[in-house]
Amino acid sequence: ALVPITELLKEAEAGGYAVGAFNCNNMEIVQAIIAAAEAEKAPVIMQASQGAIKYAGLDYIVAMARTAAEKATVPVALHLDHGTSFEQVMKCIRAGFSSVMIDGSKLPLEENIALTKKVIDVAHAVGVSVEAELGKIGGTEDDISVDEKEALFTDPEEARIFVERTGVDALAVAIGTAHGQYKGVPRLDFERLKKIRSLVNVPIVLHGSSGVPDEAIQEAIRLGVRKVNIDTNIREAFVAAMREVLARDEKEIDPRKVLTPAREAAIEVIREKIRVFGSSGKA
Ligand code: G3H
Ligand code: 13P
Ligand code: ZN
Ligand code: NA
Repeated sequence: ALVPITELLKEAEAGGYAVGAFNCNNMEIVQAIIAAAEAEKAPVIMQASQGAIKYAGLDYIVAMARTAAEKATVPVALHLDHGTSFEQVMKCIRAGFSSVMIDGSKLPLEENIALTKKVIDVAHAVGVSVEAELGKIGGTEDDISVDEKEALFTDPEEARIFVERTGVDALAVAIGTAHGQYKGVPRLDFERLKKIRSLVNVPIVLHGSSGVPDEAIQEAIRLGVRKVNIDTNIREAFVAAMREVLARDEKEIDPRKVLTPAREAAIEVIREKIRVFGSSGKA
């Protein structure tokens, strides 16, 4: 069965590693995530964004994840990534998600707290874990200066208040990462992370982790990150493999011939990440 992320992250905290949270939006990526986790004997979080749900269908996402988890010998969570409304979160819980993220990071602090609390009250009553976001992580395409970026970083004192008032299970923070492909090498604010971790007693989540150097990810894990989100690096590997087949043989018309190497490439990149996060062999 699908499990909430709470127990997985608690064990990660005890063991000083992080659990990989990999985005999926089709069957091949779901299969790749499970194959990689099985091969590495690692606990794993499969997550679907609202965009992924819109693409594949809520019923298909849940059915694929359930099928994958049923056969798996490793613990698997199905987590909603960046849920933005109470209604969206409720739909996912009713459909069978074992964990959800409510992303109220665009809201003023008090409204973010209120929305997060409202989700937690319902989710916890049915054994579903909740991740929230404080500070704005944003995308690499957002054209803003360094100063403007830092103004959006998570304030450690606000994080303390937020966690205390909401009772959230995991907290996503803005410390210099961004969603999508980076133009240069991202610089993480480790001092801020250290400060946040000294004030809050819940697992920290790192978003936008594709493109962050392995050493920086590992330093963040030493400082308390327990869930690391990866989407872009899977997309890159998946589509690059598709392009290779298509470029090699313009006459190829069998989707399986295109998608098999793509799935293999996704497995490889996910296995590498799992090893970097230190969760290999922890299931
Ligand atoms: O956080 C963003 C994830 O990479 C999901 O992206 O909304 O394009 O599915 P998406
Ligand atoms: P990347 O696409 O940069 O890996 O970010 C993924 C993410 O944070 C999903 O929530
Ligand atoms: Zn994210
Ligand atoms: Na990124």
